[in-house]
Amino acid sequence: MLVSATEMLKKAKEGKYAVGQFNINNLEWTKAILLTAQENNSPVILGVSEGAGKYMAGYKTVVGMVKGMIESLNITVPVALHLDHGSFDGCLKCIEAGFSSVMFDGSHYAIDENVAKTRELVELCHSKGISLEAEVGSIGGEEDGVVGAGECADPKECKMIADLGVDFLAAGIGNIHGKYPANWKGLSFETLDAVQQLTGALPLVLHGGTGIPAEMIQKAISLGVAKINVNTECQLSFAEATRKYIEAGKDLEGKGFDPRKLLAPGFEAIKATVKEKMELFGSIGKA
Ligand code: 13P
Repeated sequence: MLVSATEMLKKAKEGKYAVGQFNINNLEWTKAILLTAQENNSPVILGVSEGAGKYMAGYKTVVGMVKGMIESLNITVPVALHLDHGSFDGCLKCIEAGFSSVMFDGSHYAIDENVAKTRELVELCHSKGISLEAEVGSIGGEEDGVVGAGECADPKECKMIADLGVDFLAAGIGNIHGKYPANWKGLSFETLDAVQQLTGALPLVLHGGTGIPAEMIQKAISLGVAKINVNTECQLSFAEATRKYIEAGKDLEGKGFDPRKLLAPGFEAIKATVKEKMELFGSIGKA
């Protein structure tokens, strides 16, 4: 059964650990993440971007696949199915399709518009038992080959959004999606601390979990981060394992071209990456 992410993140914030959101792109990804969560008795959040939703033939397909796997793989740890960086429209579609959690990313709107749209979604989500993540201060990342710096959120704006009753909040603290550039200045713990002072018990979310040094992750958790998103690192480990398999010529040996064999090293690589992150975030044994 899918659950909202509210309870698991409340417990994580109280217990000073973080639950990983691992983005899914296909069946292998989803199965690897669910099995790793179950084997390690960890709660987990499956993230779906709008692009990945389209790639997987729509949100309804994703809901069907995830629910089917939870049942047939006997997954009993708490699993939330969460829209990542949703538009207002994307949130409505995922709520309708059966997601248990959505993120509305209104960080690119002026704060008043972000507040108005987030307020509308808080009401709708809560009437259906779905959790809602909001964002203030945009997360940097690569666009057309240029890596944009991550913004630092205004703590007062974070408080305005928190007061609407959202379940968890992503505040930009200099974090970036994808690989960090060599001249990255690191996370702004000053901003994170100021946001936590004003938002109290609200679980905070750290996007761009790929490649952040372990000590920064631990410090962020100590300052109120209870959910950490990871996407690129799973993609890199999957690609690397597949490349090695092909470079070794294994796809040409026997039935090595069978997709069940060809994708197996990548599947195992994702499992290893997810387990490593769960260890770092402290979520193992917390289901
Ligand atoms: P990375 O791709 O840097 O791991 O970030 C993932 C993320 O924040 C998804 O919202």
